[in-house]
Amino acid sequence: MKTKIENLKGLRLLNPGPLVLVTSKYQEKSNIVTIAWSSPVSHSPPLISIALSTKKLSHELINGSKEFTVNIPSFELLDKTILCGSESGKNNDKFKEYGLTEVKGKEISSPSIKECFAFLECKLTDSFLCGDHYLFVGEIVHSEIEEEFYNDCINIEKVKYINHLGGPYFTYPEKIIQKKR
Ligand SMILES: Cc1cc2nc3c(=O)[nH]c(=O)nc-3n(C[C@H](O)[C@H](O)[C@H](O)COP(=O)(O)O)c2cc1C
Repeated sequence: MKTKIENLKGLRLLNPGPLVLVTSKYQEKSNIVTIAWSSPVSHSPPLISIALSTKKLSHELINGSKEFTVNIPSFELLDKTILCGSESGKNNDKFKEYGLTEVKGKEISSPSIKECFAFLECKLTDSFLCGDHYLFVGEIVHSEIEEEFYNDCINIEKVKYINHLGGPYFTYPEKIIQKKR
C-alpha cells in the first residue's frame, strides 16, 4: 500500500545527486553556496542547471559575473558542506571560516575549491524565475576530476560523494553496475 505524503515532501523523492558546492566571484567578493538541486540539461552544448533561491548572496554574484563553478565534495566534507549552506557569505568569508582553499579559475573568474575532488566551470547561458528559486543554466567550459577517482564515470568505489535526501538526511552510493547497451 502506498501512503500519501505532502507535496513539499514529494520534492525530496526526486532529490538528485551529488550535493555540490557552487562557487562564484564578482568584484573581488568570492563565495560558496551548498546546492542540492542541480541537474544536467543538454549534451550539445553541455549545459547544467542549478536552482538557487532569490535571496542568496550567490544569486547576486552569479547574476553579476555570469559565471559559476560547481564543485563536488566527498563525504568527508559533509560537515563543511552543511556549514556552507547554513549561513550567508554576506558578512563573512566561507573559504577562510571553514578552512577551504580558494583556487583561481582556469577559464572563468569563479574560483574552485581545492578540497573538492572535481569541479565544472560554467558560463551562464540563461536564468528563469521558477516559483521562489531562479534556475541558472550554465555551459560547462572546463571540467576536472582527481585522476584516481575517475574511470569513465566517478569511481564511487574509491570516493563517496554526497546525496541529499532532503532535510537532515544524507547518503552515498557505493557500488557501480556496468550494463552493455
Ligand atoms: C544540504 C543543503 C542543500 C541546499 N540546497 C540548496 C539548493 O538547492 N538551492 C538553494 O537555493 N539553497 C540551498 N541550500 C541553502 C543555501 O546553501 C544557503 O541558504 C546558503 O547559506 C546561501 O548562501 P549565500 O547567501 O552565501 O549564497 C541548501 C543548504 C543545505 C545545507
